[in-house]
Amino acid sequence: MATVLTLAGDGIGPEIMTQAINVLTAVNDKFDLGLTLKSGLIGGAAIDAKGSPLPDDTLAQAKAADAVLLGAVGGPKWDAIERSLRPERGLLKIRSELGLFANLRVAKLYPQLANASSLKAEVIKGLDLLIVRELTGGIYFGEPRGIRTLENGEQQGFNTMVYKTSEIERIGKVAFELAQTRAKASKNPAKVCSVDKANVLEVTELWKQTMIELQKDHYSDVELSHMYVDNAAMQLLRAPKQFDVMVTGNLFGDILSDEAAMLTGSIGMLPSASLDESGKGMYEPCHGSAPDIAGQDKANPLATILSVAMMLRYTFKQEDAALAIEQAVSDVLDDGLRTLDILDKNESGLTQVGCKQMGEAVLAKLAS
Ligand code: IPM
Ligand code: MG
Repeated sequence: MATVLTLAGDGIGPEIMTQAINVLTAVNDKFDLGLTLKSGLIGGAAIDAKGSPLPDDTLAQAKAADAVLLGAVGGPKWDAIERSLRPERGLLKIRSELGLFANLRVAKLYPQLANASSLKAEVIKGLDLLIVRELTGGIYFGEPRGIRTLENGEQQGFNTMVYKTSEIERIGKVAFELAQTRAKASKNPAKVCSVDKANVLEVTELWKQTMIELQKDHYSDVELSHMYVDNAAMQLLRAPKQFDVMVTGNLFGDILSDEAAMLTGSIGMLPSASLDESGKGMYEPCHGSAPDIAGQDKANPLATILSVAMMLRYTFKQEDAALAIEQAVSDVLDDGLRTLDILDKNESGLTQVGCKQMGEAVLAKLAS
């Protein structure tokens, strides 16, 4: 029997996770998926209970599960503790230990939310782009790293940005194949834009060369373009619809995916998937733990609920169940329900709701 491990984490993690679990339980019954749910500790919650941001038993549970659903980790309470024990390290370690090298972040505009974006409606209307971020390499994991004291007594911080050909090829393959799948569905040409800083950094010069070779040898049906990361950041604001699939390394992907998320009005709407070579995955909202609103029933649970849909699609191949969740989310937006982050105060006919009420509204749509 397939199992899903839920890791609520910190801040708003527990509240959004409660709503996501309710939705997962409902579709599990409705579509007879036969999934067993388990829960575990990660991040600050795990530090408090067990003294480690990723305790061994959580890691063992995650390795045994078929998929992991994560809330969010981190908060000011744990910011002062030693670097290697901070909540974020738990997240990085689970990504690395599970080999989740491919992070898929979709920035899709719900037409109902066009006014929630800070960009003009015509710039973002119909936006649907996918960022494929390499997640277990690059400067996040490169050695050596640290803070050292120089001979003159001054301190120096250092990190190392590294990519091997094989790491670039495997993430490139994911991007090209997703572009092919998306093109089939949309009837648009398959397009990948590889983002680098090849004018300055050798590591991304190799990245660019490897992408060129890969495309030439195996994906000649996909149109490949290249962009420097600074220009990509600008183009995302100027004309985001020029992109379909963007592929990039860990650090650039971290930054560009927050930017892309905001194009859609709120990072509170965006799910993500992190996959290993066999399709096993960890699914989490793109947003963080938002400690400022934690425990106040203000958080938007939709990104986590949509992460459940991604999990059903990518790991469990249950497209009908995934679509049912996505439809239910779209329906509640049609009904005018909005959490604070997606509320446009100038629009009439909207009802502000909390996290719990939003989750319950999705459940009601699923049941109808
Ligand atoms: C993300 C987050 C993480 C990252 C942090 C919390 C370590 O920003 O998932 O984008 O940088 O990868
Ligand atoms: Mg980030």
